[in-house]
Amino acid sequence: MAAPVLETENLVKIYGRGDTRFDALKGINLEIGKGESVAVVGKSGSGKSTLMHLLALLDAPTHGVVALEGRPTGDLGAKELNELRNSAFGFVFQQFFLTPNQSVLENVTLPLKIAGVPASERKRRGLEALEQLEMADKADNKATDLSGGQKQRVVIARALINDPSVIFADEPTGNLDSATSKVVEDILFGLNRDKGITLVVVTHDEDLAQRCSRQIYLVDGQIVPSPEKPASDVAPGSPAHPWAQQPAEAAAETLQVTEPATGEVVTISQADAAEIARAAQEPPRPGKHAAPAPTPEQPGATA
Ligand SMILES: Nc1ncnc2c1ncn2[C@@H]1O[C@H](COP(=O)(O)OP(=O)(O)OP(=O)(O)O)[C@@H](O)[C@H]1O
Ligand SMILES: [Mg+2]
Repeated sequence: MAAPVLETENLVKIYGRGDTRFDALKGINLEIGKGESVAVVGKSGSGKSTLMHLLALLDAPTHGVVALEGRPTGDLGAKELNELRNSAFGFVFQQFFLTPNQSVLENVTLPLKIAGVPASERKRRGLEALEQLEMADKADNKATDLSGGQKQRVVIARALINDPSVIFADEPTGNLDSATSKVVEDILFGLNRDKGITLVVVTHDEDLAQRCSRQIYLVDGQIVPSPEKPASDVAPGSPAHPWAQQPAEAAAETLQVTEPATGEVVTISQADAAEIARAAQEPPRPGKHAAPAPTPEQPGATA
């Protein structure tokens, strides 16, 4: 493996305490080499976003170390962390929405503004980034006046504006149709190939995961060697370990589940299964659910 850009040692993340304590990561050791593309895969709640937030220095671990370019980051203050994130990382996160009332160009150049780059240079570099994503003609549009795929391309333009060494993408194609997903994926892997930008991608999409040079499988906050699922997760009549037992292509397509009410075996897509699993975890009413990990409104903007 190339020299690691990111390393972790015994990374532990515990949310809450006492009765509400939840151990989201239980001792993660990993190395991510420069120029790698790494998929973080696992079912909903397995700790993927938590791990991504810690690797991206958006949140601090309860125990353990994240090192960037060989340098442990635990002792850095908020200002240093902000600067480091802003200069080294690009973010393609769905929760980092574009600011609706600002233009596409203003959205893309925000990290440069944070870094104190003068306006004329911001504009030049912003247009250059938009050019790469074939979005330069939309530079003056309001961010709201774009299609989903166009918004995602603007988010990618913003992620690469600072010439980052790592791009973190959390479900980068989650809300896109398959044709637009392909465009967005091709852009991300093109940046990886042509510019050597390291990619860390959280995804439920097995095809996208397989395009990465390596897959990290998370089960209940731990890295496992293969994507096994506990048998209790799988309804009778369905394959016990759909990813493990079938070729990736077939596994990505469908899943057989037993309808609990009728006992009828039905075939549904993996995407629907993931959606149902997600819905099952939804709170019965708003406000009861644990708050999501704190993240800034904009990448690099706040600690
Ligand atoms: N701020 C928080 N407080 C309490 N629990 C949390 C918090 N953030 C996450 N969790 C819990 O930690 C576990 C891991 O959450 P995480 O968001 O990392 O899952 P994930 O693998 O990204 O899931 P998904 O695929 O649904 O996005 C979940 O059980 C979640 O409920
Ligand atoms: Mg997540």
